[in-house]
Amino acid sequence: MRTEARGKTITVQDIRDRKGGEPLVCLTAYSTPMARALDPQVDLLLVGDSVGMVVYGMDTTIGVSLETMIAHGIAVRRGASRACVIVDLPFGSYQESPEQAFRNAARVLAETGCAGVKLEGGGAMAETVAFLSARGIPVLGHIGLLPQSFHALGGFRTQGREERSAAELHEDAKAIAEAGCFAIVIEATMEAVARDITAEVAVPTIGIGASPACDGQILVTEDILGLSGERVPKFVKPYADLKTGLDDAIAAYAEDVRARRFPGPEHCFGAKPTSSATGSAASSDPETPGEGPLRRVTVKAG
Ligand code: KIV
Repeated sequence: MRTEARGKTITVQDIRDRKGGEPLVCLTAYSTPMARALDPQVDLLLVGDSVGMVVYGMDTTIGVSLETMIAHGIAVRRGASRACVIVDLPFGSYQESPEQAFRNAARVLAETGCAGVKLEGGGAMAETVAFLSARGIPVLGHIGLLPQSFHALGGFRTQGREERSAAELHEDAKAIAEAGCFAIVIEATMEAVARDITAEVAVPTIGIGASPACDGQILVTEDILGLSGERVPKFVKPYADLKTGLDDAIAAYAEDVRARRFPGPEHCFGAKPTSSATGSAASSDPETPGEGPLRRVTVKAG
């Protein structure tokens, strides 16, 4: 576990300075407990609008609101002290004009306490990136597969396959880097294209389905933990199967309830200590349930 940088919050300048250095470790988070778990290990926590699909069961990210992003941004900030927290601007909250983008990005920064915002788009967003950057709002760019353009792109498709679209991606990356992005996410893009862009732009690139040559990597946390169901993209490497652990735990709880094995006397207020019901020792203080090995919160009887 990394501990050396504890106590210091990683800034967007720190992220920018990592160009060509130790790879940036980035993951998504939507809640305080997940942020607490990830914070010691990662450089950047993204409150992605993927929250719409992962948490709310939407088919795309297009229906996610600014209020939803702010609520999850606040939750993640509460759980993060080390990582640089960035919040996605959702669809419709920045594309209309630089002024609209500034108004909404300023709200996100002020209400969540995050360090910057991410927005999708290349050349078409360069003016907006420059407008925000010049007014104190750090911007993480996002090119390649743009989930908010699901309908325009005709689905979630790998980008940069043809010469023309590869050239467009290079132009996009250069345009937003020059406009002031502190880093650029490159999503679902041909490996050679992402590698060349990384060599070309002066700011770090953060790959997701892009290239090991990128200056960092990001994935959706639930995808690598086995909590996203069957349909995970090809570029996801599974690091755990928490779904199986979850299923087993819930099945055990359901069995215990049906067999009246739970709650035991140690979980009840004022129950007589006995070892017959669960086979486990009762709490030394029958008025204080919640003292078992998995719980550290003490609940006092009212
Ligand atoms: O919304 C999101 O989680 C993202 C990452 C996958 C890059 O944009």
